[in-house]
Amino acid sequence: MKRTIIITGGAGFIGSHVVRLFVNKYPEYKIINLDKLTYAGNLANLKDVEDKPNYKFVKMDICDFEGVYKLMQDEHVDGVIHLAAESHVDRSIKDPFTFAQTNVMGTLSLLQSAKLYWESLPEKWEGKRFYHISTDEVYGALELTHPQGIEPPFSTKASSGKHHLAYGDKFFTEDLKYLPHSPYSAAKAASDHFVRAFHDTYGLPTVVTNCSNNYGPYQFPEKLIPLFINNIRHRKPLPVYGKGENVRDWLYVEDHARAIDLIFHEGKIAETYNIGGFNEWKNIDLIKVLINTVDRLLGRGEGEDLNLITYVTDRAGHDMRYAIDSTKLQKELGWEPSLQFEEGIEKTVRWYLDNQEWMDNVTSGDYQKYYEEMYKGR
Ligand code: NAD
Ligand code: DAU
Repeated sequence: MKRTIIITGGAGFIGSHVVRLFVNKYPEYKIINLDKLTYAGNLANLKDVEDKPNYKFVKMDICDFEGVYKLMQDEHVDGVIHLAAESHVDRSIKDPFTFAQTNVMGTLSLLQSAKLYWESLPEKWEGKRFYHISTDEVYGALELTHPQGIEPPFSTKASSGKHHLAYGDKFFTEDLKYLPHSPYSAAKAASDHFVRAFHDTYGLPTVVTNCSNNYGPYQFPEKLIPLFINNIRHRKPLPVYGKGENVRDWLYVEDHARAIDLIFHEGKIAETYNIGGFNEWKNIDLIKVLINTVDRLLGRGEGEDLNLITYVTDRAGHDMRYAIDSTKLQKELGWEPSLQFEEGIEKTVRWYLDNQEWMDNVTSGDYQKYYEEMYKGR
C-alpha cells in the first residue's frame, strides 16, 4: 500500500532517525520531511537518505497554516508524524514565547490542516493518522524515595513483571494527571491537549506518545550527553546543575524510532502510549560513565578527567526525577528496547568521537550553510 507521510522536525535529533527508518524500511511510501531548519535542524543528519527517490525535504514553518494545508492537498498526505518542536528546557526558561508559538500554535496549525483536508475527502478519516510525539515531562516530576529505608537505586518490579533499578516507588503511567513545570513542558502539555481535543471534537484519528530522555547520534550539543562528551574530549569544564542528583530515564534514540514505527502502524486511535526502557540514572553517575568511556576510548587513563566536573547553579524549577512505565506499550504492542544502556552509551560516545567533523560544523555554526549548498537550484 502506498502512503504519503509528513514527518515534521525531521532534520532534528529524533526526527532524523525516524525519517531514516521510514525512508529505508518503506520504499513504497513517500516521506516528506517538513522542517523550518531552526538552530536545531541540520540536514547533514540525513546525508545518507537525501537522494533516495521516496524522500523529499520541504523547508516550512509548521505555524504557516496556509502552507501546510496546501502541502497536504498537493501531496495527498494521509499520515502525519509530528516531532517539530522547540525542545530544550533551558531555552524555554529564557524565551517561553517561542515555545508557545511553535509547540502550541504550530501543532494547532497542523491539526487544523489535517482536519480540513481529510474531512474534504470522500473516505474522510479512513486510512488517515495524526501521530503526535510528546514527552514524559508533561507528567511533572517524581520524588526520590527510600521504601523500607533502602537507599536508591533499589530493585523493583514494574507492572510488566520485570525487575529494574529505580530511584523511587512511583512511575509515570498513561492515566496520570498532567503537572508540567517548565515553559517547555507546559507548551508540550498544551499541544497534547489540543491533539486529544481534535479527536474528541471532530473525530480526527490521533495517537499520542510520551517518551523519556533520548540519547544517541545527531543530538544537538546543548543537551547533556553530546555537550559533555564534546567537553570531555576538549577537556572543558562540565557544568553539573545543582548537586547532580536529578534522575533521568534514558532510551537509545533508535529504540524510540522503532516504537514510533510500531505505534504509527499498529497503535490504537485515540490512545496514549508511554515509551521508555526502565533505565533510570542519577546525572552525576551518568556523567562519570561518560568521563570513563571517553577517556578509555581516547586512550587516556580511565577517569583522568573527573576533575572537569564543575557544580553550577541549578536549573530553575529543575524536575527531580523522571521514570516512565512503558508496560502498556510492551504488553499491547510487544515493543522492547533493543539495547542495554552500557552498549548504547559506548556506541554513542564512539559515534561522537568518530564524527568530530559533524560536531565541529554544529559548534562553529557551519551546519546552517548545508541547506543553501545542498538545495540551491533544486
Ligand atoms: P530537536 O530540537 O533536536 O529538533 C527539533 C526539530 O524541529 C528541528 O529540526 C527544528 O528545525 C524543527 N522545528 C522547530 N521549530 C519548527 C517549526 N516552527 N516548524 C518546523 N520545524 C521546526 O528535538 P528532538 O530532541 O529531536 O525532539 C523531537 C520531538 O520529540 C519534540 O517534539 C520533543 O518534544 C519530543 N521528545 C524529545 C525527547 C528527547 O529526549 N530529545 C524525549 C521525548 C520527546
Ligand atoms: O524527558 C524527555 C526530555 O528530555 C525531552 O522532552 C526534552 O526535549 C529533552 O531536552 C530532555 O530534557 P532534559 O531537560 O531532561 O534534558 P537535558 O539534556 O537538558 O538535561 C538532562 C539532565 O542533565 C537534567 O537533569 C539537567 C542536567 N544538565 C543538563 C545540562 C544541559 C546539567 O546538569 N548540565 C547541563 O549542562
